[in-house]
Amino acid sequence: MGTPARADGRADLRQVEEVARTIAPLLDGYKLIVEKSTVPARTASWIDWTIRRLAGPEREFDVASNPEFLREGTAVRDFLEPDRIVIGADTRRARSLLRDLYETNFDCPIVVTSVTAAELIKHTSNAFLATKISFINLVSDLCAELGDVATVARGVGLDPRIGGHFLDAGLGFGGSCLPKDLRALITVAEDNGVDVAMLREVERINTARVDRLLAKVERALWVLPHKVIGVLGVAFKANTDDIRGAPSLAIIPRLHGAGAILRIYDPIAARNFQKLYPPDDRLTYVESAFEAARGADALVILTEWDEFRTLDLDTIRSLVRTPIVVDGRNLFEPARMRAASFEYYSLGRGDASLLAEPQRVRI
Ligand code: UGA
Repeated sequence: MGTPARADGRADLRQVEEVARTIAPLLDGYKLIVEKSTVPARTASWIDWTIRRLAGPEREFDVASNPEFLREGTAVRDFLEPDRIVIGADTRRARSLLRDLYETNFDCPIVVTSVTAAELIKHTSNAFLATKISFINLVSDLCAELGDVATVARGVGLDPRIGGHFLDAGLGFGGSCLPKDLRALITVAEDNGVDVAMLREVERINTARVDRLLAKVERALWVLPHKVIGVLGVAFKANTDDIRGAPSLAIIPRLHGAGAILRIYDPIAARNFQKLYPPDDRLTYVESAFEAARGADALVILTEWDEFRTLDLDTIRSLVRTPIVVDGRNLFEPARMRAASFEYYSLGRGDASLLAEPQRVRI
């Protein structure tokens, strides 16, 4: 069930409470209530108290936590082939019910712990993934001057203590989970008197990615009014039509506000974006990357779709007005783009540009 963020960053647990209140009078005989949603530590205790108050002491039940680690786009595979299962249960009965359910069907490590620790494992996992991404993005700003972030990430990630996953530099993390769960962990930690300066920095670095990209667009195009920009991708990541928390939501309105003419393409997420930003005289939705490129002064890549990685560069070059690509996802090798006669701006790898000096963002 939904646990959206409140204005202060805390999780809004109204729907969770509502379910607890609904379940309470219906309990007949022992029931195990399993919390699957990502919730702040101690939510299960609140569910337990809520039901106990409303159902009376004679009702038999336990509340357990069994967080899921499914990613959008690969959820079924993640479910069938989990890398671990976390069971948070505070009674023997609850523990053994969940163990029986999983042990016979899955061959992966099972972490059995308290309910509250299980809740914390989920938030910590997502906050750590977010931290990895912000860390490599910080390094990518350094690499813009000194090296290639993709090579640095590979060299670092081959150390098994670090691991190569979630070291793709670019526009940062979006979606409905990492930003929200990081925020929620910050508020839980603050509520418990823990200094969260480090996690705040992870957030700040992530937010600043949008400015980095917009500065590149300005550097590439100089004057934005009436420039035609083909935007490739609005989804928060590839293989989903989800735009929640997507960098496109911050970038496209700013390009539009600066007077650019936008032609937007996403394989499946454009429909959702269009509901928020209907077409107008300077914003249209097109059916292919090639249509987005036709007559464009620049292409701006916002999502790491494979379809964009494999674009035929000769065709693109024949369609655009000026061969300029600003790549927020580092999909191409700069040398290859240079060889294909593109001006190529990416994040953390040095630009193949006709200009020498970087400029400040004004959009
Ligand atoms: C995330 C977690 O990865 C799942 O384990 C978790 O179960 C899920 O949240 C959840 O809490 O339900 P998801 O939101 O589908 O899954 O997205 P991710 O695949 O984690 O990607 C998040 C964002 O990070 C995307 O915007 C992606 O583009 C970005 N990212 C990812 C990078 O910028 N660099 C990387 O190296 C990896």
